[in-house]
Amino acid sequence: MRLNGTRQILTLIAGLGTCFAASAASAPKGADPHSQWKLIETYCFDCHNTEDWAGSVAFDTMSVDTIPEEAKVWETTVKKLKGGLMPPAGSAQPSREEALQLASFLETTLDTSLEKPYVGHIPLRRLNRREYANAIRDLIGLEINPATYLPDDEVKDGFDTDAAGLRVTPTFLDQAVSSAREIVPLIGRACTAETESPTVREMSARVARPSRAISARPF
Ligand code: HEC
Repeated sequence: MRLNGTRQILTLIAGLGTCFAASAASAPKGADPHSQWKLIETYCFDCHNTEDWAGSVAFDTMSVDTIPEEAKVWETTVKKLKGGLMPPAGSAQPSREEALQLASFLETTLDTSLEKPYVGHIPLRRLNRREYANAIRDLIGLEINPATYLPDDEVKDGFDTDAAGLRVTPTFLDQAVSSAREIVPLIGRACTAETESPTVREMSARVARPSRAISARPF
């Protein structure tokens, strides 16, 4: 990576504040999950609900997305379906084919979740203050105290990496931009002629001229 001047450095540092990390949860392959869940609703909800709690199981508290979280109940369900034990005799019955397809759908869903642990949904988020400072250190070799430049990150349940707390509000963007303006002049001071990286040396030479660094208005 070769940077061409102060403007690019400012853009880079301000941009770090809004870098995003993302991950997607994927659904297991096979039978259509919603038509399988319909079978549960049709043949099982009558007794396994929050009023009747037959066998201490209420399927109406669960959903097709939370199957891996209730693995024990669903493993028993697979056995009951395969053995033709549920629904009990006398209740409306799915066809044998439907019951076996449902059992195999549940097994596949449970197996897939073991291979790939269920991690829930992870929304896009920006870097937190600590990650921001680490990124500046790793890219430029400059140690900063992020508390001097950016507001406190909202800590959720003891985690400072929870996307719900790491939103990019207009106020945050303003602070990211002004922190970039304050940090850039420090690069010149931190870098020495012996700096090994040519990129850092070049950046250092460019931002060492304070009048240019301060008057830069890239946004
Ligand atoms: C007519 C009411 C009724 C219907 C409909 C019914 N069940 Fe049940 N189920 C029960 C009762 C009562 C028990 C507890 C006694 C037993 O285990 O046989 C039970 C127990 C269970 C258990 C065992 C719970 C445990 O941990 O011991 C599972 C799993 C289960 N049912 C799954 C199903 C599924 C899946 C369906 C639909 C395909 C279904 N049931 C439909 C009445 C019902």
